[in-house]
Amino acid sequence: MQLDPDNHKNTNRQETEKRTSPLQYGNQEKKNVYIETYGCQMNFADSEIFGSILLKEGYTMVNEVGLSDYVLINTCAIRDNAEQRIRKRLRELRAVQRQRPWMRVGILGCMAERLKTQLLEEEENVSFVVGPDAYRKLPNIMSRVRGGDKVAATELSNDETYDDIEPVRLNGNGISAYISIMRGCQNYCAYCVVPYTRGLERSRNPQTIVDEARYLFNEGYKEITLLGQNVNSYRWEQNGTKVGFPELMAMVAEISPSMRVRFATSHPKDLSDDLLHTMARYDNICKSIHLPVQSGSERMLKLMNRKYTPQWYLNRIEAIRTILPTCSISTDVIAGFCTETEEDHQATLEMFRTVRYDSAFMFKFSMRPNTFAARHMEDDIPEEVKIRRLEEIIALQNQLSLENNQKCIGQTFEVLVEGASHRSKEQLFGRTSQNKVIVFDRGNHQPGEYLMLKVTECTSATLKGVVVD
Ligand code: 5AD
Ligand code: SF4
Repeated sequence: MQLDPDNHKNTNRQETEKRTSPLQYGNQEKKNVYIETYGCQMNFADSEIFGSILLKEGYTMVNEVGLSDYVLINTCAIRDNAEQRIRKRLRELRAVQRQRPWMRVGILGCMAERLKTQLLEEEENVSFVVGPDAYRKLPNIMSRVRGGDKVAATELSNDETYDDIEPVRLNGNGISAYISIMRGCQNYCAYCVVPYTRGLERSRNPQTIVDEARYLFNEGYKEITLLGQNVNSYRWEQNGTKVGFPELMAMVAEISPSMRVRFATSHPKDLSDDLLHTMARYDNICKSIHLPVQSGSERMLKLMNRKYTPQWYLNRIEAIRTILPTCSISTDVIAGFCTETEEDHQATLEMFRTVRYDSAFMFKFSMRPNTFAARHMEDDIPEEVKIRRLEEIIALQNQLSLENNQKCIGQTFEVLVEGASHRSKEQLFGRTSQNKVIVFDRGNHQPGEYLMLKVTECTSATLKGVVVD
């Protein structure tokens, strides 16, 4: 997050001046904004979009709540615990608001879209709620709430892609950045709230994506991650030319061989051989695919409306292994979806043993209001069963992660150095093309360098290595 040092210095002086309106001191408007982002990578990319909109309107980003006049919380609604976390945060902010009574709190993103004005009624310290397609209205809304009004802007759009907005890079490491290439999702998986909070799928003009990536490269960035809920259905047509996701990847990869390109997330139903061949053609397209399986049971996948069978999924894994032999594979899985039996659960464990994922995001099912599941199914798996099944999946995955990492010992990988290791300043960490983290002694090396590292040790989560020439 950017902190304007002058603004920071001025803060105390401004506060001692006469207060003439809730957010005005003397002639100086209070426009310090603190942004907090929760949830997925898309949310982090969105915060960079509305951050940019606000900077253009003369707002300043600060990196402490205690310096802010507005707190913007970009929220996630995918599971109930994500929302509970935000409610807890709102309670904590009440204490800050007592010290800074002019401070306004806004809820943005998926939770705002899901709950709309209900959130304004339930949370008295929230002044505005703004959904993912209404960020252009933020400056106007933020000036309206100064006098104490409460405002909600939650209409979804069929064409908003914010493609004319150059995102400001918040909290970045200056090395890797996200670029959002499409918005929305219309797969309507039975458990998922995203189609209701982020609206219909729409792709962004490829030229603006390439321009943004080139700009970042010229600014010194070394890695771009192209983001969408389902990047494989990226599509753009103009004057008879069609650009699909493989073409877009190639366009971005060609900016420079020294800039890495990643993407997330793929839906197994649309993962094409064409994309895999494009990945194979470019060394700088990272060999790492996130392919959410959700369940290993054919019956569950059907109930979840995932539109593929375990056989189809395994055929896609086979294609990855054949076309991209060095590629790592990660996944998302849900334990305890409606009616899931022990047999269904065993099928999920079997899927994990067969694919041998490098890593996984593992969740227990959380019923979300208004989804297909909420309207037509019963949340009938007892909490303790969900927890036990989730723990079994986690234990298995930990074992698989460890075994996969052990196979890396003795091998040499090219890493892009990202920064200091969390444990020690004397160590740096970098990421391999396969998205694995390797920690190593700093020496004279710097973030942003490409280095060859030989792996010497590992845990299930991290590899340790030494620099080789
Ligand atoms: N309960 C639990 N996990 C969910 N996900 C999506 N919706 C739910 C839900 N209602 C998981 C899926 C998805 C990931 C982003 O979150 O695994 O891929
Ligand atoms: Fe949700 Fe399914 Fe869309 Fe992913 S593909 S965002 S799980 S509806």
